[in-house]
This record gives sequence, structure tokens and C-alpha cells, in this order.
Amino acid sequence: MAPRPIIIDCDPGQDDAVALFLAMASPDELDILGITTVAGNVPLELTQRNARMMCDIAQQQALPVFAGCEKPMVLDAITAEYIHGNTGIDGVDVFEPETPLQEQHAVDYLIETLLAAEEGSVTLVPTGPMTNLGTAIEREPAILNGVREIVSMGGAMREGGNRSPSAEFNILVDPHAADIVYNCGKPVTAMGLDVTHKVLSTRERVARIRDLGNGVAEATADMLSFFHRYDTKKYGSEGAPLHDPCTVAWLLQPGLFETRRCNLSVEKQSELTLGHTAVDFWHVTDRPHNVDWASDIDAAGFYELLIDRLGRYGDS
Ligand code: RIB
Ligand code: CA
Repeated sequence: MAPRPIIIDCDPGQDDAVALFLAMASPDELDILGITTVAGNVPLELTQRNARMMCDIAQQQALPVFAGCEKPMVLDAITAEYIHGNTGIDGVDVFEPETPLQEQHAVDYLIETLLAAEEGSVTLVPTGPMTNLGTAIEREPAILNGVREIVSMGGAMREGGNRSPSAEFNILVDPHAADIVYNCGKPVTAMGLDVTHKVLSTRERVARIRDLGNGVAEATADMLSFFHRYDTKKYGSEGAPLHDPCTVAWLLQPGLFETRRCNLSVEKQSELTLGHTAVDFWHVTDRPHNVDWASDIDAAGFYELLIDRLGRYGDS
């Protein structure tokens, strides 16, 4: 079967970086058309640079990387250096990447590419605030014709918020964009903290990654060794949740997940609960079922997949 065309929209971020590595290691299943970047964990000039660095580390300098929106659709920008470090990818030494930044704005790239795409052919994989996608859909709704499905990292139900008591970071940064994407009418699989908090990068798992002994695995282990310090202290957990690779893992092995079709609505007004994702998991309302909400994950299976794919970089 031909690999499915995807566009990854991200805000690297150590976990975004691992999602990129997982996707780049899977060319038989995934054809990465392009990587679009957005302001999120750190400002846009860093997220775009970080995405290009990951292409260099993975020897994928030909992948087109685009810079997109530097602020949310409506709100002022917020960032997360306290988790990701000032570079956004603390744990690896920063360098000026060879992978070029494309001239075209990411939103224009999304519109041009999706308007030209075969009907229902392209999978969108947002792993940061969904500002680029929301802006593209609002500007040119016809792009949805080219979209097969969307697999997003964002939101929370049972887990509560991680940036506010009631909101997960990606949705809190841009609730207006998230609302557009969740209600765009295309199939959306939503990976929230309820599953990502189950895939913890424990010391044992990081050691197994490091033992793979190739450059990508080493960079991954270095980034995760930095990334987990905040969450382990905050939650008293054994490692940091590997949020964004859950999206790519779903594309590669959906059987690792349990999902349920239901309504997800985004709070866009309340100061107290801005960015909250109200997931009607038990169907207590008659709101339309607009997402497949991921409620569980086989964490051991997820790490077997990740380690297997990171190990492939050593074959090159
Ligand atoms: O809340 C976790 C999400 O916010 C992840 O995508 C992380 O990279 C940040 O973007
Ligand atoms: Ca992210």
C-alpha cells in the first residue's frame, strides 16, 4: 500500500521533535509532504529553526519546512520555556541547520497544497497550537476537500489541564483555531493528556533509546533527559509524558489506542476555563459527535514501536 501523504504542523518542543523523528523513520507508511511550524512552546523563529535542526539530525534536509503564524488567531501569545527550555529543545546543542526555511508562509503552503491535492488524500498532524490550520480553513474552507483526516495532540478530559487548571497548553494558546479545526467536518482523532500522560519517558525507556547508538536516538535521549525534569517534579511521575509522538503512533499502529466518537467543545470566552475541552465522553448532550477522543493507550506497545523506529536510523 502506498504511504499516506501527511503534513506535520508543530512547535518543537522536544516531544514534537520525537514525533518528527518517528514519522521520518516510517517512509513505508508516511509520506511527509511538508513540515509547517507555528508559535507555541517557544516563539516562531525558534520553532522553525528547531524543526529544521531535526531534519538535519535525521539526515532529511530535503524536507520542506515552513514558518507559519507567530501569534494565535485572537489571543496574545503564551509560551512554555519553563518546560522546554529557552531554546525549545534544551538537551541538544543548538546549531544553524542546513535544512532551508521555505520562503512561502505555512498558511499559504497549506492552502496551495490542499487545494491541489486529490480529494480526501492528505492527513494533517497538528502537534502544537492549531493556529496555522485554523487560519487556513477560515481563509479558504475549500482546502478541506483535500483533507483525509486530522490527528491532533491537544485537550484533556479526565487529566485536567497542564497550563491552567482546566486547559491543555495547545488548546489554551489558541482556542479559536482549535474550535475551527475540531468543527471542520473532517474526521478528527484527538489525542489529549488522558493518553499522553500514560506514555512516560522513564529512565529505563530513555536508556533503551540511548542504547540504540545512532545520532537520532542519542539526540532523543538527550532531549528527553532534559524534558522530563519539570513533569517528574510537578506530578511526581517517573518520566515526562511523550505527548506529540502519540499522533504519529496512531497513524502507524491505531490498535495501540482506544478511542470513542463523541463531542468535543472548546471554551473560548471564560477567563477561568479558557481553552477547556469539554469532552462529552458519556454522550449526555445532543451535541454533534465531531471527534474520536483517545481514552487509552498501550504504553509498552507505544515504546516498542518508538524504539523500533528510532533503531532504524542506525541502518542508514
Ligand atoms: O500540552 C502538551 C503539548 O503542548 C505538546 O504538544 C507540547 O509540545 C506543547 O506543544
Ligand atoms: Ca507540541
